[in-house]
Amino acid sequence: MSAKTRILIVMGTRPEVIKLAPVVIAARDRPDEFDTFVVTTGQHREMLQQMLAVFQVAVDFDLDIMKPGQDLPYITTAALNGLHEVIAQVKPDWVVVQGDTTTTLAGALAAFYQQVPVAHVEAGLRTYDKRHPFPEEMNRRVTTQIADAHFAPTTLARERLLREGISDDAIRTTGNTGIDALFLILGSSEGEAAPKQAGERRLLVTAHRRENQGEPMRQICRALLRLVDQFSDLRVIYPVHLSPAVRGTVFPLLGDHPRIELLEPLEYRGFVEEMGRAHLILTDSGGIQEEAPSLGKPVLVMRETTERPEGVEAGTARLIGTNEERIYSEAAALLSDDDAYKKMARARNPYGDGRASEKILAALSGRPGERC
Ligand code: UD1
Ligand code: UDP
Repeated sequence: MSAKTRILIVMGTRPEVIKLAPVVIAARDRPDEFDTFVVTTGQHREMLQQMLAVFQVAVDFDLDIMKPGQDLPYITTAALNGLHEVIAQVKPDWVVVQGDTTTTLAGALAAFYQQVPVAHVEAGLRTYDKRHPFPEEMNRRVTTQIADAHFAPTTLARERLLREGISDDAIRTTGNTGIDALFLILGSSEGEAAPKQAGERRLLVTAHRRENQGEPMRQICRALLRLVDQFSDLRVIYPVHLSPAVRGTVFPLLGDHPRIELLEPLEYRGFVEEMGRAHLILTDSGGIQEEAPSLGKPVLVMRETTERPEGVEAGTARLIGTNEERIYSEAAALLSDDDAYKKMARARNPYGDGRASEKILAALSGRPGERC
C-alpha cells in the first residue's frame, strides 16, 4: 500500500468520546495504515476527561474552550477558530467528526474551509423538525451537506441520506460505533455488577437536552416524585449532568427524597453497570436509546421527537414527551403491568454488531477520494 492515511479525529463532548474511542483505538492499532491525531475542543471538560480515561484515549490537541453557561455562538466560534489552527498544522487527509453537537458542526466547517475531506460518523439521523432536538437537528443536516463520507448507523439512516440526494458511493452502512464501545466495555467487565437490594426496583434517569431545560425539566422531576411516592419498592438513580441549567432545577426539586439518589455523572463502565441493574430507564439522551435495546432494558424517551425510531419499532423504546402526567402514567403502567413490561424488556440490537469502527477504517484507508 502507498502512503499512510492521516486522520484527525475531532471530539468535544461525553458522547463523542464514547462513540469515537473505538475508532481511535482501532486506528492506533494499525500504525502502518494510519497516522491518527485526536483533537478535543473541550466543549465538555470533566465529563470528557472522565471518558478519555475510561478508554485510555491520548489526546494530541486540547482547545479547552469550556466555560460555565457557554452559549452556542461562543462554542461555535471558539471551536471553529481553534480547529482551524489544528487542521492547518496536521494537514490531515480526513477530518472525522461524529454525531450532531456544536463541536461536530465546527469540525466539519473548519475542515471545509481548508478543503479537507470530512468523514461523518453517525450520519443520516433526522427528526425533520429543525427545533427538536435543538440545535442538534440542524447541526447534523449542515454536517451532511459538508461531509464527503457518510457513515450511516442503520439502513434507515442510509435511506434518508439517499433521499436527500447524497450519492450512494459516499455512504457506508456501518452500525453505530456506540455499540462497539458498549461491547468493548462489556467484554472487559470484571464479573457481575454489584447486586441490588432485594425487593427493590431501580429506575435509572438522565435528562439534559437544551429544549428540555426549564419547565419540561420541572415536569420530569414532579413525575419522578409521584412515582417514588406511588411505588414503595422504587429507587430512582439519577446521575445529574454537570450543566448548571440542569442542576439548578434537579437538585432543589429532588435533592432530599430518601429513595432518589442524585449522583455525579458516572464514568462509562459504572453507567453501563447501572443500566444492567435498572428495571426501567427514563431518558432524553440519544446514546442511551441505542444502548438500552442491546441490554434488554425498556426505555421511556422523554422527548417530543426521536431521530432513532429503530428502538421504538423494535418495541424496546417508547416516545413519551415531557408532560408530567404522561411520564407518570407511562412509567406507572410499566411498573404495574408485568406482561407489558416483559414485552418491552427483550434484548434486540437494531443499532449495530460492534464492528462499525472496522468498517469505517476500511473506507478511510488509502487515498481520500478513491472511495467514499
Ligand atoms: C452538549 C451537546 C449535546 C449533547 C450533550 C451531551 C451541543 C449544543 N450540545 O450539550 O448535543 O447531547 O453535550 O452531554 O453541542 N459542563 C461542565 N462540565 C462538563 C460538561 C459540561 O461543567 O464536563 C457544564 C458547563 O457549565 C457548560 C454546560 O455544562 O457550559 C453546558 O455544556 P454544553 O456542552 O454547552 O451543553 P450540553 O447540554 O452539555
Ligand atoms: N453516560 C455515562 N454516564 C452518565 C450518563 C451517561 O457514561 O452518568 C453515557 C451513556 O451510556 C451514553 C452517553 O453517556 O453512552 C450519553 O451521553 P449524553 O446523554 O450526555 O449525550 P447524548 O447521547 O444525549 O448526546
